Amino acid sequence: MSDDAAYTASVVGGTGFTGGELLRLLAGHPEFEVVQATSRSKENKTVGHAHPNLRDLDLRFSSPEDLESVDALFAATPHGVSMEQIDEFRDAAETVVDLSADFRLDTEDQYDEWYDGHSRPELLDESVYALPELTRDELPGADLIASGGCNATATILGLKPLVEEGILTGDEQIVVDVKVGSSEGGAGGGEASSHPERSGVVRPYAPTGHRHEAEIEQFLGLDVSFTVHAVDMIRGASATCHVFPGEPVSKGDLWGAYRGEYGEEPFVELVAGGGGVYRYPEPKAVAGTNRAEVGFELDPGNRRLVVFSAIDNMMKGSAGQAVHAANVALGIEETAGLEFGGLHPVGAP
Ligand SMILES: NC(=O)c1ccc[n+]([C@@H]2O[C@H](COP(=O)([O-])OP(=O)(O)OC[C@H]3O[C@@H](n4cnc5c(N)ncnc54)[C@H](OP(=O)(O)O)[C@@H]3O)[C@@H](O)[C@H]2O)c1
Repeated sequence: MSDDAAYTASVVGGTGFTGGELLRLLAGHPEFEVVQATSRSKENKTVGHAHPNLRDLDLRFSSPEDLESVDALFAATPHGVSMEQIDEFRDAAETVVDLSADFRLDTEDQYDEWYDGHSRPELLDESVYALPELTRDELPGADLIASGGCNATATILGLKPLVEEGILTGDEQIVVDVKVGSSEGGAGGGEASSHPERSGVVRPYAPTGHRHEAEIEQFLGLDVSFTVHAVDMIRGASATCHVFPGEPVSKGDLWGAYRGEYGEEPFVELVAGGGGVYRYPEPKAVAGTNRAEVGFELDPGNRRLVVFSAIDNMMKGSAGQAVHAANVALGIEETAGLEFGGLHPVGAP
């Protein structure tokens, strides 16, 4: 924690997986001082009790009913909590960054279709969707930020350059398969997430109807056929997007599209069939970091384009993305607190 921190921050839902990652990032951030982390189940326990990697953080969990005044409040709570408590959050903080899906979609109808409705639909116009590489211009000064979902982030980062370049126009068939790690289910998990049940799986988790499909289609303006598999990783989301362009594309077109979109981005790397072991994007290569890897390959004859995108769901897919968004919103150096480059080699992330 920096003595010269310019902004105070709190984490609501501090015992959870993304809450722990937020605390790790904010504690090491040069411009933030964490003054509160909340928990109902571990009130008065130290942060290290839930997150052993943070044992040196001198902070105890407090009740979410006693929110302190801060510059930025990060809500890392299950879907439905933020929309119910948004007034309390906004009373406590100038800037609210929500990691849940509560403010990501544009309309009440979408929440009726994909979730269980919305209790504060009038706020949907106010919230800014945060996938900073693509919504950077909307973030400065934003006070209600909806951090993009993990599987959606991986997919959108993979496909967006093709939309921008006119390679995808909305008429093409797009099939997306995302493989995800167990931490996506949160610290609570459930029967399917217990170690004996989850270990070793390649399980079709959401063959159709995954809620992130709504977010992806909203952001890209395209129909996608979307499937999610639960696989034997702890961290990571790996999107494979099968695309059948209407017109032939070349590798040169693709490099142009992806370099044009991400060439200057600090957190997106193009990994597309080079040498070495890691020739295409892999979650293992970005574990613990805020980096995304994006790459592609063409079928012989250039009929099918396969796009790959890999992130750490708890970093680029949530906590890292949320801190990145807060940096931009508050006018802090974009990369502040997010420059950790990862470890190699590591075990299964
Ligand atoms: N896990 C991921 O990879 C990921 C990625 C992107 C987005 N997200 C989203 O981020 C949010 C958090 O996910 P997570 O995986 O960190 O969940 P999690 O591990 O289950 O943690 C949830 C946290 O919220 C607290 N909480 C639960 N109900 C609450 C309530 N009514 N009021 C206040 N606090 C409450 C819990 O602690 P107490 O019960 O002790 O209060 C816990 O600290 C979710 O909306 C999730 O969809 C997660």
